[in-house]
Amino acid sequence: MTSNEIRQKFLDFFKERGHAVVSSSLLVPTDPSVLLTTAGMQQFKPYYLDEVSPYGNRTASVQKCFRTSDIDEVGDETHLTFFEMLGNFSFQGEYFKKEAIEYGYEFITKEMGLKIDYVTIFEGDEKTEVDNESEKIWKELASDIEIKKAGREDNFWGPTGDEGPCGPTTEIYVNGIEIWNIVFNEYNRNKEGDYIKLSKPGIDTGMGLERLVMVMQGKNNIFETDLFASVMEVAENSRIAADHLRGAVFLLADGITPSNSGRGYILRRLLRRVVAKGFGDFMEKTASVVIENYKNFYPELEQNKNKIFEELKKEKEIFDKTLQKGLKEFERGADPFVLFSTYGFPLELTLEIAKEKGIKIDVEKFNEEMKKHQELSRTASAGMFKSGLADTTEETKKLHTATHLLLAALRRVLGGHVVQRGSNITAERLRLDFSHPEKLSDKEKQEVEKIVNEEIKKDLPMICEEMTADEAKEKGALGVFEHKYGEKVKVYAVGGFSREICSGPHADRTGELGKFRIIKEEASSAGVRRIKAVVI
Ligand code: GLY
Repeated sequence: MTSNEIRQKFLDFFKERGHAVVSSSLLVPTDPSVLLTTAGMQQFKPYYLDEVSPYGNRTASVQKCFRTSDIDEVGDETHLTFFEMLGNFSFQGEYFKKEAIEYGYEFITKEMGLKIDYVTIFEGDEKTEVDNESEKIWKELASDIEIKKAGREDNFWGPTGDEGPCGPTTEIYVNGIEIWNIVFNEYNRNKEGDYIKLSKPGIDTGMGLERLVMVMQGKNNIFETDLFASVMEVAENSRIAADHLRGAVFLLADGITPSNSGRGYILRRLLRRVVAKGFGDFMEKTASVVIENYKNFYPELEQNKNKIFEELKKEKEIFDKTLQKGLKEFERGADPFVLFSTYGFPLELTLEIAKEKGIKIDVEKFNEEMKKHQELSRTASAGMFKSGLADTTEETKKLHTATHLLLAALRRVLGGHVVQRGSNITAERLRLDFSHPEKLSDKEKQEVEKIVNEEIKKDLPMICEEMTADEAKEKGALGVFEHKYGEKVKVYAVGGFSREICSGPHADRTGELGKFRIIKEEASSAGVRRIKAVVI
């Protein structure tokens, strides 16, 4: 049976049994307590409580899911980040344990023709009771199937996020692997961690399509199934590249783009890991095979094709620029904060490379530095500009960051004699006065623009650190040094490119600036030139 046939058989089976077939929801969930959709029940979460389901009380779906919890297992026989989950659901007591177990048994043994090794049920603990009912149902249904008992870790599911429906589970094992998780949503767990019995319980089931296809097609691992065969071919048989690029394509199609926080960071981690492992050149080809394979069932892939390719290319270009230098940094001791701020290495990637190289990484120090940086940027954003800025809208923040890049670029093109003599920023443009004896040539102006735009393209974070003025000077920071002895100053840095004493606020990342353009270069006073520039 092909994977397409299996998907269809599942949906038909439940449709024949009165279930409304509901399309997968986006990987960006409506539930604000989770970053990504991790289970089929997420889009139905309110219907287990008091909200009325617009689809009726029986539904079935094939849901796009993404779990970061298994990311380190990817590469073994059965784990993935992105996967498709087959599920049937019952709300408001429409049906419960007996029907759910019978449906599961019938689908696996009759429709799929598979033999169940054994099933597991919840053994109970001090919070919620043992599931004797499921044991009895299984015994009556198939007396030859072994029933094992397990604890909360394995046989209690949910809630997704901080609160919500949850309950004991029964799990079906075939060929030694867990195929299907049937959840009995008997409880609503609240924020305080209490389990409150629902007056009308529900059913939530989840069966990993890739694992089911693997046993149906008699394969030893998910990467040999028809879901992956052609992807593996173009991804040079790298399981990690195949998994991560497939996941990335689906995340991009749902509107997520690489960034340094939240969902965007998860996507960035996937892509940078692929590039760091040397599979960057196969990105586009692999993505087109993924789109081709899945476009019939998930039309959003084809619809967003151009955007997907564009983002993949952009992220590869940005990271390629600093990757080799970042790898060299490892020889100098691998400071994870420097690798993150200057070379764009996600912490997880640094940890992975460090492990390969047998280097120890101080994660605690990294977290401290990140926290300090975030706090500093926040207080800076709340404050005011020194240079006579009227407000701190997004535009002026960008222009302020552009001013730093411009000064660094001018010093590179014209020489170290260039220092800032004045600055003024409005919402429309920046104005920088700097020491230089003569008019800039067209070539010099173009060169300055080019350098600034390159730094923007690298999408580097604006890192803010606090130190004494002497330390700042020591580190080569530009700016005013007349501070009281030992007084702390803020230093804003963009990679190894620019470092200035400054009170902020700034854009979070250079990538936010878009494109930098000089609109005017003129004399300001003797020995001082003035540049007006914009970001668009
Ligand atoms: N919601 C059931 C599962 O994810 O296993």
